[in-house]
Amino acid sequence: MASIVLRDIVKEYGDGFKAVKGVSLDIADGEFVILVGPSGCGKSTLLRMIVGLEDITDGDLQIGGERVNDKAPRDRHLAMVFQNYALYPHLTVYENIAFPLRLTKGQYSDEEIDRKVNLAADTLELREHLDRKPANLSGGQRQRVAMGRAIVREAEAFLFDEPLSNLDAKLRGQMRTEIARMQRKLGTTTVYVTHDQTEAMTLGDRVAVLKKGELQQVASPRGLYEQPVNLFVAGFIGSPPMNFLPGQVEGDSLRLPFVDVPLDATLRERIGERSLVIVGIRPDHFGDVALLRDGQDAGVRFSADVDVTEWLGSELYAYVPFDTHPDVAAKLEELDRDLDGEGMRTQLVVALSSESRVRDGDTADLWFDPARMLVFDPETGENLTRDDDLARTIDEENEEDRKAALERAQARERREHDQGRDEARAS
Ligand SMILES: Nc1ncnc2c1ncn2[C@@H]1O[C@H](COP(=O)(O)OP(=O)(O)OP(=O)(O)O)[C@@H](O)[C@H]1O
Ligand SMILES: [Mg+2]
Repeated sequence: MASIVLRDIVKEYGDGFKAVKGVSLDIADGEFVILVGPSGCGKSTLLRMIVGLEDITDGDLQIGGERVNDKAPRDRHLAMVFQNYALYPHLTVYENIAFPLRLTKGQYSDEEIDRKVNLAADTLELREHLDRKPANLSGGQRQRVAMGRAIVREAEAFLFDEPLSNLDAKLRGQMRTEIARMQRKLGTTTVYVTHDQTEAMTLGDRVAVLKKGELQQVASPRGLYEQPVNLFVAGFIGSPPMNFLPGQVEGDSLRLPFVDVPLDATLRERIGERSLVIVGIRPDHFGDVALLRDGQDAGVRFSADVDVTEWLGSELYAYVPFDTHPDVAAKLEELDRDLDGEGMRTQLVVALSSESRVRDGDTADLWFDPARMLVFDPETGENLTRDDDLARTIDEENEEDRKAALERAQARERREHDQGRDEARAS
């Protein structure tokens, strides 16, 4: 297993298109890193360069401390799982998994191959399917066979390019936890490309957000959610997405479409001379005033005309239209194009507790905590409310948690292994 280091990696395709514009990223040994970003931002290109399927135009790629730019794919010892995992239809599951080992012609004995295939089949719970053909398997089982093939190679790292995008939602959920468990168990460095929000937030130790070939931010999921560096990351991470409102600065307060919010000294200073800012509030940072307990401090209250509501069991979404400022509208339209969005957002999405009785057409009394709102520069999109110290603490905690989880998984693996050995001896 190995670390993967990218230094100013550039990809310019033959037709002159620059798909990756100088990406630097340090992936630790055993780490699980996610690459996310809208379609066409260069995720697959980056992954293909790591594996060696695509030349690197400029920059350095190191695997396990060694520069591998000019090494052939097979000499990089990486295993890749694609979206369209090509299994051989005429071979059994066993032979499909064994395939990469057979390719090495004589490097492995039949006993070794058998041991490795069985071990992979155990890890992926494929033992009872080893004699079957891929065509007779479910989508998830086929996916596991493709992963089995990656496992037997004992690769330095696993690279996944949207491996679950062909599966239905339920199976995707199952496979997600499967992949997470497998990665912890094996402790193999993993780079995983997706544009699925949930996969990005739940699978990775760290998430790298790309926009048009440029890295925007690399942080833990919580780091991205709470301390995004800019409007793009804030808008990309989170579902439903963050609300963006125009904020007019008037002395020590900020005029939002529904309510005026007092500015504390720090934020006032950071806003400086700007008279217009973009304010970001996550849907789940709103609440229904009617559900407040007596004496509960509720930040800023306002009332708003609710257009439509959606009751989802766990939450209730209320949609509140508002008029935006033309300068802000232009910036948000640009953001929306960058995010591959479905159109301008001139409605607030408010996620309330499912007990809320707010309904279509209501004038609802709502509240939010102004300490949790983010403020962005309307030109550059920079997050003016970002707290670098807090962001660092979040990522340090994340790193501690990751190491602890990895140790627990590996201790469990050793225990199971020892137990298996003892049982084998006893029988
Ligand atoms: N062989 C090629 N020649 C020229 N341009 C290419 C080539 N392959 C990809 N590109 C361009 O490079 C950019 C990045 O492509 P890439 O496949 O890496 O995107 P992606 O982030 O994986 O997108 P998706 O989420 O749609 O899979 C795109 O604009 C694409 O058009
Ligand atoms: Mg792709």
